[in-house]
Parts: sequence; structure tokens; C-alpha cells
Amino acid sequence: MLVLGIETSCDETGLALVEAVGGLRAPKFKILKNLVASQIKIHRPFGGVVPNLAKREHLKNLPLLFKKLLPTTYNILPTINLIAVTVGPGLEPALWTGIIFAKELVKKYKKTIVGVNHLEGHLYSFLLTAQHSNILKNIRMSNLFPAIALIVSGGHTILLKMESLTKWKKLGETRDDAAGESFDKVARMLRLPYPGGPEIEKLARRGDPEAINFPRPMIHDKSYDFSFSGLKTSVFYYLRDYPRDANLRTHPNIADNSHVPIHQSLRIRADVAASFQQAIVDVLVQKTIRAAELFGAKSVMLSGGVAANKLLRATLKEESEKRGLRFFVPDFIYNTDNAVMIAVAGFMAHLRKKGRKLVAQGNLAV
Ligand code: KG4
Ligand code: ZN
Repeated sequence: MLVLGIETSCDETGLALVEAVGGLRAPKFKILKNLVASQIKIHRPFGGVVPNLAKREHLKNLPLLFKKLLPTTYNILPTINLIAVTVGPGLEPALWTGIIFAKELVKKYKKTIVGVNHLEGHLYSFLLTAQHSNILKNIRMSNLFPAIALIVSGGHTILLKMESLTKWKKLGETRDDAAGESFDKVARMLRLPYPGGPEIEKLARRGDPEAINFPRPMIHDKSYDFSFSGLKTSVFYYLRDYPRDANLRTHPNIADNSHVPIHQSLRIRADVAASFQQAIVDVLVQKTIRAAELFGAKSVMLSGGVAANKLLRATLKEESEKRGLRFFVPDFIYNTDNAVMIAVAGFMAHLRKKGRKLVAQGNLAV
């Protein structure tokens, strides 16, 4: 089945062509085209995504990407079997652009359409790694389950227990800020540009993750919920109060920076970035592993934009494999928003007859 994926939930316009074979038990995917037009530069001056600007850019990008998607040597349109479009969660004005575009294609070319939950796209993105297809060749898909899946993005932090590729239950989620959101907010405090996750990761490489003992909210809480707004507030107070700290004048690395407000010295900012990143990763990893142990999971799956974070990937991989659990994370390009994962989730939803309503649903749950 040839699937056209369409993604416009936030600030990436994505179109993809994916060939899907196999049934629900052992689906396999070949990525023919993956196009993403990023709007990061447009939203950067505003420190976050502006919904109406996102809408305007999607409207501009969709037809351009569609033209680019089609091979020039032959007409691929008749061979497309399914159009998969994100309907939520996300920014509603942005979601509508993709839905309307998809509906027009359906009308014009008489195609089948399926509405896709963006979070299911992230969830299934572990199926996309080249290396995983080798693993998946050698073991039965059913041997991966039960599994614990952690979805960490700009809008969500969700822990799921998967019984199979098609059956899962939410164990917990964030009660306030999502993991990616807190990366973005702390980045702003450190005067780093949007999106903050990759910037904090870069700055953290120069800092000491043990320099500041930021809180690890809810790390010992029995529930599988998360809370990151307190951590963000701790960073805020640290940056605000640090100049009054007695250690300030004796910090060995700032001697030649004494003319700069102290919290702006590179060393301090790098320590804040590294210590903050470590605190978030500790919470995410510890709670995921606890769930995996308690539910007798055979594998752990990590996805969403924050899954691009190398410390998170490496730590969760190490802690999973130490316990004999298989660890899955998509290749970097499939962590942040893209239409390949939407084509994959659309194929699964179509087979399961679980397509979503073709209206923008800003708060759609997984
Ligand atoms: O999944 P995604 O592309 O969009 C949503 O569905 O939200 O995730 C975007 C989020 C942003 O908050 C961004 O700062 C974060 O993922 N992110 C990262 C990294 N790369 C992107 N967070 C931490 N480390 C990274 N390397
Ligand atoms: Zn996303």
C-alpha cells in the first residue's frame, strides 16, 4: 500500500510517501520520500510558535512540497492508496491547513483518507529505524511486548504500557509542563533561541551536570505522572539569586569574567544547562524503568522531539539493556515532527479501522 502522509500540527510542514506492507502483526515500511519544511527561523524571534504564522506558512508550503514530492518521470498519483493526515493534537489553525489540503486531494484524485493522531505517529516511529528493521527481521514482533513507551515532545510527556502494536494503556503523563516545553522555557531564561532543547543540549556539553542539585520532581512518587514546572521555577530562582551567593566571588572559572553579571558567565550558564538536563533525564529514565520492571516489560520505546536528546537516549538505552530489555528509539530525523510517522500511524489506523474524525482536534488524547 502506498501511503501519502501529511503533517501540519505545529511548526513543521511535512509530506511523505511511504510504502507499507504486511499486516498489523508485522508491518514493514519503506520510505520513498520524506519532506519537511521547517518554520523554526520564522518563529524564533517570538520565542515560540505563533499559530497564525504557522498557518500561513503551512498554506504556502503544502503545495510547494507536494510538487516536490511527485516524481517528474512518471505519474505516481494513481498508485497512492491512502492519504493519512494529522488531525490532532496540535494548533488548530495549523491542523486545519493539512486537513483541508488532504480533503482536496481526496476529492480531486478519489483517494481513501484516514485521520491520524499525531501522538500515535510518535509512538509508532520506533518502527522506522533502519537498524531496527534488522532486529525486527530476527525476532517476532510479539516478543517485544509488553513494552513501555515514553513519548516526550514539546506538548506531551506520556508513559504508556503497550500490550501489542495495537493495544495500549496510558500509565501517566505530565501534570503541568511537558519535558520539551520545560527545555524551551529554561532555554529562554538562559537567553538561548527557540527551540530550546537542542540549544540546552549544546550548552550542557560545556557544563557540569552535578554542579547544581536541581530537584527531581515526583521521581519517587508511586504514580507514573510527571511534573516539570517546579524544576523550571528552581532554575529561575537559581539564576535570580546566584549573584547573591557567597561562592560567587570565589568561583574559579569566572575570575576573568568579573565584569559580566555572574549568572551570564558561560561557565555558570553551562552548569545550569547541564544540571537541568540531568535532572529531567533522571526523572524520565527512572520512572520509565520502574514501569518496565513493574509490568515485566520486554522492551522500552522512546519517541518525540526530546528523544533527540543524546543524554536521554544513551541513559535510557543503558538502563534498559542492563536489565535485558530491548531498547528502541527512532533515527534522529524521525524524532521531531515529520510526515513519515503520520503515514505509518495512518496505515495502522486504517487497518484497525480506527481513523479519526477529519476535524482539527487540538487536545486529542492518545
Ligand atoms: O515532537 P516535536 O518535534 O513537536 C511536538 O510534537 O511538540 O518536539 C519538539 C520539542 C521542543 O520542545 C524541542 O525543544 C524538543 O522537542 N527537542 C529537544 C531536543 N530536540 C528537540 N529537547 C531536548 N534535547 C534535544 N536535543
Ligand atoms: Zn510531535
